[in-house]
Amino acid sequence: SRNTTRNADGAVEVGGVDVRRIAEEVGTPAFVLDEDDFRHRARSFRDAFAEAFRPHRGAEVYYAGKAFLCGAVVRWVQEDGLGLDVCTGGELAVALRAGFPAERIALHGNNKSEAEIRRALEAGVGRIVIDSLDEIDLVDAVAAELGLRASAMLRVTTGVEAHTHEFIATAHEDQKFGLSLTGGAAFEAVRRVLDAPHLDLLGLHSHIGSQIFDTGGFEVAARRVLGLVAQVRDELGHTINQLDLGGGFGVMYNTQHTPSTPESLADGIAGIIEKQCHELDLEVPHLSFEPGRVIAGPSTQTLYSVGTVKDVRLGGPHHRVYVSVDGGMSDNVRTALYDADYSCLLTGRSSDALPEVVRVVGKHCESGDIVVKDEYLPGDVARGDLISVPVTGAYCYSLASNYNHVPRPPVVAVRDGEIRTLIRRETEEDLLGLDVG
Ligand code: LLP
Repeated sequence: SRNTTRNADGAVEVGGVDVRRIAEEVGTPAFVLDEDDFRHRARSFRDAFAEAFRPHRGAEVYYAGKAFLCGAVVRWVQEDGLGLDVCTGGELAVALRAGFPAERIALHGNNKSEAEIRRALEAGVGRIVIDSLDEIDLVDAVAAELGLRASAMLRVTTGVEAHTHEFIATAHEDQKFGLSLTGGAAFEAVRRVLDAPHLDLLGLHSHIGSQIFDTGGFEVAARRVLGLVAQVRDELGHTINQLDLGGGFGVMYNTQHTPSTPESLADGIAGIIEKQCHELDLEVPHLSFEPGRVIAGPSTQTLYSVGTVKDVRLGGPHHRVYVSVDGGMSDNVRTALYDADYSCLLTGRSSDALPEVVRVVGKHCESGDIVVKDEYLPGDVARGDLISVPVTGAYCYSLASNYNHVPRPPVVAVRDGEIRTLIRRETEEDLLGLDVG
């Protein structure tokens, strides 16, 4: 994160706090979130998109809570003027408990339960992103029962093959999300929402995937969605004037640098949309975006303590050094699941020892429990050392598990030399308490 430095002792400081102090006060493993970094990034994206679309109907940024959500994050997002994207009743509950204004919340999900829809409508969420034809009837019926109108966006599948890991690409045809453009479901859905007595059609939504670096996918997706806007204008005489292009902006895991600035990204996308709208003789709609990873990811590092260090002979001159840490795939499953390329550094001290290539692994009972595949660490790394894996703010805590009955680590915010616990460490009692049989 941006506020990381090394002090005179050779230890890393983040947000003005020495990592050794964090380890002492809250233990390891721990997620250490640089509050200023998170908030700076949130505001930068909000401002960049607002600015890029200012000549038109403006643009808003909804923070995608699935990347990482807790009460403090909800309050920051509100104070910093972003909306919030939630995709389950649980995420909605976190947002509402922290006092987030419901009209700034978008509810997603390919299989929302009736209870989730009811809770969202009762709370007054600003938009429900409808994902299937039968959900149109479901949301309409719940709205009718509650005697209100629901603002709906329709999630459209654009058929874009995003260049990312197949598990996190979402707009190609053969997957579960959205209403197909080419199959005609999307147009049919627009017709049905316009006819539904308790629904207002707010606009169209598209999300092509996650961890995407080039704007080519957004260009194709926008062209196809705007094509539908034009078709609806021509065939149904209705103007759709809001578009949500989802999230998905990528981050680098092995360097702490974001490949493009929020401004260049927003300007690039605005240019694409202006051109396409011009070609279709459409006014540029009001835009919204839902970045999660790019805001949360770089703000956080996971602090681990080193345990066993093992030099494994592989035959001939070959060997590999395995450095085990006190967490692993239960706090960061992304290496095992998506082949993510994290890095790692010695943070509790500096060292003049020659660097050697090591593999950083966890404490779980399987060999795929790898945190960092190949990394240079000083050759004298040993039990008790503190090491950090940067850029773990997105989809690490939110994907965390209790595999092998390992309690989940805490998330602490650091800022101006102070440590504040946002989510406390899970305890063995927390886990044993669930076991009531
Ligand atoms: N909007 C929608 C509708 C989404 O489905 C997602 C992510 C986002 C926004 C935010 O995408 P982001 O800006 O964070 O890339 N667990 C995977 C990522 C799954 C993303 C799911 N949807 C990972 O760890 O890479």
